[in-house]
Amino acid sequence: MALIGVFDSGVGGLSILDEALRQLPDHNYLYFADSANAPYGEKSAEWIASRSLAVCEFLAEAGCQAIVLACNTATAEAIAAIRAKLKAIPVIGVEPGIKPAALQSQKGIVGVLATEATLNSDKFNALLATLPGNCRFIKQAGAGLVALIESGQLHSPEIAALLAQHLQSIKAAGADTLVLGCTHYPFLMPLIANQLGSNVTIVDTSEAVVRQLVRQLEAHHIAISAKDKRRVLLLSTADGGRLHSMAMQLLRSNLDSIGLDFKTIDVDLSTVCP
Ligand code: DGL
Repeated sequence: MALIGVFDSGVGGLSILDEALRQLPDHNYLYFADSANAPYGEKSAEWIASRSLAVCEFLAEAGCQAIVLACNTATAEAIAAIRAKLKAIPVIGVEPGIKPAALQSQKGIVGVLATEATLNSDKFNALLATLPGNCRFIKQAGAGLVALIESGQLHSPEIAALLAQHLQSIKAAGADTLVLGCTHYPFLMPLIANQLGSNVTIVDTSEAVVRQLVRQLEAHHIAISAKDKRRVLLLSTADGGRLHSMAMQLLRSNLDSIGLDFKTIDVDLSTVCP
């Protein structure tokens, strides 16, 4: 059976799961939302690293043959340690698409909206340092956005106002490209496009991340089998039922032919509650 784990601090990774269901509809997925602990982006690097490793060890024990860290923040702080520990399992991460953004920006001015932890991480800053100096990056932490998205606000006046505040410096700098450096932000696409206008290109890496997953599955000979039932199990450390209703609202994939199930899991990862 091909079981793929998809992990995020909360509902953000559903944007990656959605793309995975589009490119790889026949696999089984275990989606893990650590919503009891979201947002990660405002926590310490040490906390993010140890929690992300614990969740990925849990997913490996649950039988996942590949894991997508569908979280820029967890990727930035933990992917090296996770790969070192789970040697046999391919672990695919998500990084802000600053490279493609720099290549396609006409003006050489690119906004990057991501969590504070991602923007401050060594991994992100090392990637930034590899890019030629002729592109200017306006880095903006999206403080507060993840908590509002987790609470189901995608169009409220409150989130629109907070987003407008965060986009101010990027707009003022005249950026013609915006990188979405957090997997929660694609769910704000209509608001972002409305506030930035049609001249700004938005870069989201979910498609490229799933292409990388496809390559890794091929390289590790992980294929679907007759036993696969196109099943998605949603696990939340806060409330599985709530994650399920958010998934029904956020996923654009056709869910009719997919068995979508949900469970709540203890925050200490020991018990799956009925
Ligand atoms: N969705 C996550 C990311 O891509 C994490 C957001 C958070 O929990 O702060 O960074």
